[in-house]
Amino acid sequence: MFHKKTIRDVELADQVILLRADYNVPLATIHAAADELAENNELTNAGEVTLAAPTSVEITSDFRIRASLPTLQYLLAHDVAKIVIISHLGRPKGKEDSLSLRPVAEHLAELLPGHVINFVDEITGPEVAAAVEDLPEGGILLLENLRFDPREKANDADFARELVDFSGAQLFVQDGFAVTHREQASTAAITKLLPSVAGLLVEKEVTMLTRAVQDPARPFTVVIGGAKVTDKQPLIDKFLPIADHLAVGGKIAADGYTSNNPKIYVATDFDEDGAGEKLDIGPVATTEVIDLVQQSQTVLWNGVLGKVEDAAYATSSTILAKYLGENPAITSIICGGDTAGFVEGLCAENPDLQFSLISTGGGAALELLSGGMMPGLENLADKD
Ligand code: 3PG
Repeated sequence: MFHKKTIRDVELADQVILLRADYNVPLATIHAAADELAENNELTNAGEVTLAAPTSVEITSDFRIRASLPTLQYLLAHDVAKIVIISHLGRPKGKEDSLSLRPVAEHLAELLPGHVINFVDEITGPEVAAAVEDLPEGGILLLENLRFDPREKANDADFARELVDFSGAQLFVQDGFAVTHREQASTAAITKLLPSVAGLLVEKEVTMLTRAVQDPARPFTVVIGGAKVTDKQPLIDKFLPIADHLAVGGKIAADGYTSNNPKIYVATDFDEDGAGEKLDIGPVATTEVIDLVQQSQTVLWNGVLGKVEDAAYATSSTILAKYLGENPAITSIICGGDTAGFVEGLCAENPDLQFSLISTGGGAALELLSGGMMPGLENLADKD
């Protein structure tokens, strides 16, 4: 299923590793309390206060950071010399302080107690070389947001060369599954410059998603929700010949999606708000989806079934997630940013729920499933 070399296939001891992670995590801006702001700002005249800029950002889901831990732990357990991590965060136009990776480094340090985790607010240059030099054996250094340099998105070979030279890396490890559908310097150009292998997250995601397309344990049900039929139709088309059943809910069903194909069940009853807007699939459709899932050995779920950000309309998605999470004998693959975020949130409240894969890759998972190009995987070394 996965034909690329991974960190299990190569010599790691004493190597400096350049690790591409995807730490593109959701952030919330935290504003200082009003009294703190008043203290920190000049009182201009009669009670008028010039408010300071917001003081900090908070990571609202550390799912992608936690997903990188198995690879980091494996590398450290195999005596690598140093690990230099590179990632992007958001879509900055130049340098934007609010999209610095510094809070990610601080969070990573909390998740890996006992390890040296440093941060440098540069991507290339002598400061990076000095920061690598300062790292003790087994230390980890996170560089600043790759996209602060426009050469990252341009897949610029010189930028990739600088990443290699200033980090002093000897091996490139691609573990940012969520960005492997992008052709950028840290996913594509870099693989031409260093021996390049996959990390454990990339291996797991690609293996499970590929198996769903090529050789799923049957019966195999695909549950599709979400908002835009144009986004979901390629997935429906892809899985129609593969799956035993497809169930369609979410806004696309509420907006009138229909199919005459006997393999496809489309929700027909809905929970509505006072204005008659259909915001969740109803109890009949929920029971129908659970019936299909109950008979299945593999379930791939992409797209929430209702407007889950409003708890009143998260009922069907919660029932489905709990059913899957409480029945680990069913291979459950959760993909798509909103669906993975929703299920992750539920797992935080219900730590006993277990899923085979909650994909970290929104766009990347859909690209892989629909047979699109994956430039971040293509040039990794092939297995012998
Ligand atoms: C994602 O969040 O899907 C990845 O980090 C890729 O981000 P991008 O869509 O900004 O390239």
